[in-house]
Amino acid sequence: MLTVALPKGRIADDTLQLFKEVFGGDFKFEGRKLILESGNFRFLRVRNQDVPTYVYHQSADLGVVGLDVIEEKGLDVVRLLNLKGGYCKVAIGMQNGDELDYNKPNIKVATKMTNITEKFFAQKAISPEIIKLYGSIELAPLVGMADMIVDIVETGSTMRENDLKVVDTIMESTTHLIANRSSFLEKKSEILELYKKLDDAVKSGRRI
Ligand code: PRP
Repeated sequence: MLTVALPKGRIADDTLQLFKEVFGGDFKFEGRKLILESGNFRFLRVRNQDVPTYVYHQSADLGVVGLDVIEEKGLDVVRLLNLKGGYCKVAIGMQNGDELDYNKPNIKVATKMTNITEKFFAQKAISPEIIKLYGSIELAPLVGMADMIVDIVETGSTMRENDLKVVDTIMESTTHLIANRSSFLEKKSEILELYKKLDDAVKSGRRI
């Protein structure tokens, strides 16, 4: 039996659809249920940012989640396979008209991704004031709370519609299959069999 943590929403739906095609059987969360058992699999429906946590603590053997979330959590998990979907960037945004100057003193950065932000600026030997927000990050420069933001850019619409521009890219992200280190050893053959099937699907152009 393999336990797989999936983030609620599109990724969970797409992953379950792919498992259905690859392994047969019926994979669908009922109503608001958080656990789904079918055949040799058990799926957990969790918050996106919590997927690495369930995998790290071995409450799930595997998880499907964006590289941005894996980086931000910084937990030691095995990155098994790039599932190549969900492309986005973690980027620095500023108001149109503002100039990027990393040498400016007392830089204020608003973000929900404080670890990625800290690491990025540390590599430049800068320690900005980091203001933690939980959403609507794009608002912060508009109301003078921050000089810049670090946020996810997918289509670019949110920045565009709020008079912001991307001034630097920190990382690119796609969805990845991750595994718990111990599970990977304990259930190696099961995990590798699953890995191979998903890898074949990705190689034939399937994206999650
Ligand atoms: C994310 C992200 C940006 C937006 C980017 O926010 O934080 O605000 O999506 O997407 P775009 O480039 O396609 O416009 P989300 O929708 O998760 O809401 P949030 O503000 O509550 O975090």
